[in-house]
Amino acid sequence: MSIQSPSGRVHIERHHTDAVSGEALAADVRAGLTAEQKTLPPKWFYDTVGSELFEEITRLEEYYPTRREREVLRAHGGDIAAATRARTLVELGSGSAEKTRVLLDALSVEGTLERYVPVDVSDSALISAAEAVAEEYPRLEVHGVVADFVEHLDVLPTGPSRLVAFLGGTIGNFEPGPRADYLHRIAGSLRPGDAFLLGTDLVKDPQRLVRAYDDAAGVTAAFNLNVLAVLNRELGADFDLESFRHVARWDAERAWIEMHLQSRRDQTVHLKALEFDVHFAAGETLRTEVSAKFTRDRLAQEYADAGLRLAAWWTDAAGDYAVSLAVPPL
Ligand code: SAH
Ligand code: AVI
Repeated sequence: MSIQSPSGRVHIERHHTDAVSGEALAADVRAGLTAEQKTLPPKWFYDTVGSELFEEITRLEEYYPTRREREVLRAHGGDIAAATRARTLVELGSGSAEKTRVLLDALSVEGTLERYVPVDVSDSALISAAEAVAEEYPRLEVHGVVADFVEHLDVLPTGPSRLVAFLGGTIGNFEPGPRADYLHRIAGSLRPGDAFLLGTDLVKDPQRLVRAYDDAAGVTAAFNLNVLAVLNRELGADFDLESFRHVARWDAERAWIEMHLQSRRDQTVHLKALEFDVHFAAGETLRTEVSAKFTRDRLAQEYADAGLRLAAWWTDAAGDYAVSLAVPPL
């Protein structure tokens, strides 16, 4: 389905429609809430409120990844533009596309960029980001896609000299198996002359990591709990948000942060639209996100396993965060 954006400046293509997302949410909730360790995929965080809370997280003192990634893009945007000479920038999970402006500026200076294709499940974030970019870069064609970047990867716009960007560390929100599959599929979608730009948070002091996911002001807690409000609204569930607490833990073996919602008491939740009840014992948790942290060696190996070649690796001055460029083999 294709529509013009509210201003008429931007072309919006929709794959993640209400019907598609309703079915996907129901399937994810049925599978995730009946598992031994209850889980939910993180994409359900991002309704309008969740997308706004994420933006608030990016401005927190404790949450360094956004600042660090912006620092790398500012320092090396010119290198990225010169190396790729991209004509189309496709951005997976673009959110507000705030940092993307740094890349758009560098590619505009290089003089090659013609089209920007932001892709996101959050239609509120997607439409406002696409509108804002179209206004700020009047010569750029902006083609927004409301889609699941996993389900709909194969229907994203193609064209010569594509740079596919996946920023913010969102690749860390995949578990290892699905991440390997996804990198492999991305590699398969790249043509000669295309490139993949990836932002990854790096392994560091666990205390800093936990603080980044459990901030003093409680914004990350509100972001985490918001997924229960999404289930209440979309599936007629009766989660009492007050009876769950936000938990962030570092798993050193898996090198990832886990976010959970822990039940403060023994309770049963009814999900009207799915006609089923879910029981939570006191202290039991629902895992809502993993956020993997990387090393250069590990990522280089994951690229190689996916059939990609690591072409460039840049970090911020403190070595907290990396942006890397990968290309398909010649
Ligand atoms: N790239 C931005 C936003 C990161 S937050 C930044 O660096 O700040 C993660 C973004 O990915 C959110 O906007 C969310 O809506 C989107 N997202 C999460 N899972 C998704 C999925 N499966 N398909 C498409 N978008 C997804
Ligand atoms: C989008 N993603 C990379 C964020 C992260 O850091 O894993 C989501 C987030 N969760 C809690 N804070 C931010």
